[in-house]
Amino acid sequence: MTELLQLEAYFDAVPRTAARTETYGPLTLFVTIDGGWPYYARPGLGLDASITAADVTKVRDRQRELGLPETFEWVAELSPSMREAAEEAGLRVEAHPILVLDQLSADPVDDRVRRVTADDPDLGRVRGVQNVGFGTPGTAVGAAGATERDTAAVDGEPLDALRARIRAHTTVVYAAFDPEGPVAAGIHQPVGEVTEIVGVATLPSARRRGLGAAVTRALAADALSSGVRTVFLSAGDQDVARLYEHVGFRQVGTAMTGEPA
Ligand SMILES: CC(C)(COP(=O)(O)OP(=O)(O)OC[C@H]1O[C@@H](n2cnc3c(N)ncnc32)[C@H](O)[C@@H]1OP(=O)(O)O)[C@@H](O)C(=O)NCCC(=O)NCCS
Repeated sequence: MTELLQLEAYFDAVPRTAARTETYGPLTLFVTIDGGWPYYARPGLGLDASITAADVTKVRDRQRELGLPETFEWVAELSPSMREAAEEAGLRVEAHPILVLDQLSADPVDDRVRRVTADDPDLGRVRGVQNVGFGTPGTAVGAAGATERDTAAVDGEPLDALRARIRAHTTVVYAAFDPEGPVAAGIHQPVGEVTEIVGVATLPSARRRGLGAAVTRALAADALSSGVRTVFLSAGDQDVARLYEHVGFRQVGTAMTGEPA
């Protein structure tokens, strides 16, 4: 439980680097201020008050008013009343395993993988890899590859926001490359001694070559070498969790998401 409380503090802290907050009863809404990734609402840190459907509805109204996605995130074990409240308020709820790094299972050095800096000309295409990867859920090999990545590459304000976060060391990006460009990518977001690895994705055409695992290992090694003590992530499903377990992570809890069906 102590481990989960540490992660809960992280979930509350990380959006504060790029968002302001609004409080609605037991829920905190994070409103992005830098043009970057929109954030969720989640239970207030340290509150064990019971959450109701009316609380969730109030926040959804405000999210709609601000043009934000109506997304909620929480840790199942720490906010047990939230699931029923979210479902009653009409949200589709999903559970995702949370894993913490025990020990890296193999040497993280892989010459296909490198750190991507703020000024790297490939950064927009690295985001393209993530867009295509998450646009093709599951772990199967597929047809989408370099062409789709280049079409999905990111530019303009969202890329500038990412560059600023890399410079501020609130986001660290690693990617795997083949001769034509990036094919797998992921980031970690350190806050003090804790970091979360997110956005790990491989182009469907490059899957099942060990790239997802290699990027995850490189991110975890980077975090440990920069003084982070707790490296965690949440897996989309049990197939993805198995990949992370091979890398050296262990399941400790359940991250919940709620969004309109
Ligand atoms: C999850 C994801 C990142 C995995 O990427 P990947 O590059 O295929 O990952 P890996 O190759 O390291 O491992 C995937 C599987 O291929 C296997 N594999 C690795 N190298 C292999 C090889 N040379 N030959 C055959 N299989 C291999 C791994 O053992 C693993 O098998 P498992 O299902 O038993 O765990 C990718 O499928 C993806 O982008 N999915 C959509 C987005 C997503 O869900 N991201 C995770 C968010 S939590």
